[in-house]
Amino acid sequence: MSQGADILLGLQWGDEGKGKIVDVLTKNYDVVARFQGGPNAGHTLEFNNIKHVLHTIPSGIFHENAVNVIGNGVVIDPIIFCGEIDKLLKLEPHCIDRLKISRKAHLILPTHKLLDAASEASKGKNKIGSTLKGIGPTYMDKTGRNGLRIGDIELLDFIDRYNVLKKKHLDLLKGYEFPFDLQIAEKDWMVAIARIKRMNLSDTDILIQKAFHSGKKILAEGAQGTLLDVDFGTYPYVTSSTTTAAGACTGLGLAPNRINEVIGIFKAYITRVGSGPFPTELNDDLGQNLRDKGNEYGSTTGRPRRTGWLDIPALKYAVEINGVTQLMMMKADVLSGLKELKVCTEYRYLGATINHLPFSLNEKLLQPVYVEMESWEEDLTGITSASDLPKALQDYTDFIEEKIGVPVVLISVGPDREQTLWRG
Ligand code: GDP
Ligand code: IMO
Ligand code: MG
Repeated sequence: MSQGADILLGLQWGDEGKGKIVDVLTKNYDVVARFQGGPNAGHTLEFNNIKHVLHTIPSGIFHENAVNVIGNGVVIDPIIFCGEIDKLLKLEPHCIDRLKISRKAHLILPTHKLLDAASEASKGKNKIGSTLKGIGPTYMDKTGRNGLRIGDIELLDFIDRYNVLKKKHLDLLKGYEFPFDLQIAEKDWMVAIARIKRMNLSDTDILIQKAFHSGKKILAEGAQGTLLDVDFGTYPYVTSSTTTAAGACTGLGLAPNRINEVIGIFKAYITRVGSGPFPTELNDDLGQNLRDKGNEYGSTTGRPRRTGWLDIPALKYAVEINGVTQLMMMKADVLSGLKELKVCTEYRYLGATINHLPFSLNEKLLQPVYVEMESWEEDLTGITSASDLPKALQDYTDFIEEKIGVPVVLISVGPDREQTLWRG
């Protein structure tokens, strides 16, 4: 591994298994840095029969060798963040010493959450299906130049600044018929703010640059997935940040020429939580079967995830947007024992056959074209070497590699750290 940074990100609509893989890879890195998103993320790690779900904290936190950075591109809900810290402290009393929080990261206010909920309620059937964590309104205030940042907590007039922004939000809320009670949330928020003030607030952009110049290895951890990117995702059914490789640059202060590998994670099928187009969705027993076998329920909201066949044009699009150099295929075990196995290789779009993602994924205009693949029966969860995987799965993987033109270097066969097979 050469000096500089690698990026690890999701290539679908999130929940690809980023948390698990960051945890697996952290032993090779000195710095693990989250670059965007906030508590809308739920990154799951499993080892020693314990399952951990992280929302704001980078997934390298369980390893003593790495500094964990919450970058400037992240938005932080102080209450959720302190709740995460409390859970972690029970298991890893010193984890907080290796956690650095960017002074430039933006704060999610209680009123941002109210605005998120009010906006969603007003949209009716056109709602985004937001996690209601206040993500959209917080990024709106960031780009609107109204936001409050972690570093503002250290200023003497922080409360005045808070009150100015809160008033702006309360005025906006008058435009919605949305009942709320702010008192308890606001009190808890202030308590959490006072705690955060005593933590390692840091100029993490400088930290990242120093790490680079001293030859340290940096892993940038993405949240959400490429198809939820605010520019390149299925807009408007997206999140409000740059989930793609470019987001690692703006979300950490990492120059593009300092990036080496871009590791793209995808499920062997595909899922989505929330609203929006989904060409290969399975609204039948097969879809339910994938949901049950893959335990496809949101790590953050508990909502059932929509499920479908692997969509190769969408995957190829995500690989191109991010410049992916290595692929990792997750949840291959979930496909064992299926009666049928299909992959979408192209679309029918306005009477033509295309193999790229067009502007509109409206189902009236676009239909997936599938090829049937050979399925396999074997339970994969106890397999310890990629060469022991069933032939049909090897063929499935080779097929994807050939279509995308990037090597699949790892196949995951279960949620545990150990259920991770490197391909030779
Ligand atoms: P993330 O948001 O990308 O970190 O992914 P999530 O944690 O939200 O969702 C992935 C889910 O799949 C979690 O429950 C993981 O524990 C689980 N998981 C990860 N890899 C595998 C795998 O290879 N097989 C199975 N069965 N589950 C996996
Ligand atoms: P991780 O990091 C899956 C989805 C929501 C909704 C849309 C907008 O765990 O992969 P937001 O709250 O961001 O305004 O919601 O994005 N979404 C996710 N789906 N995994 C996530 O994160 C997600 N974060 C947001 O369901 O459709
Ligand atoms: Mg998740």
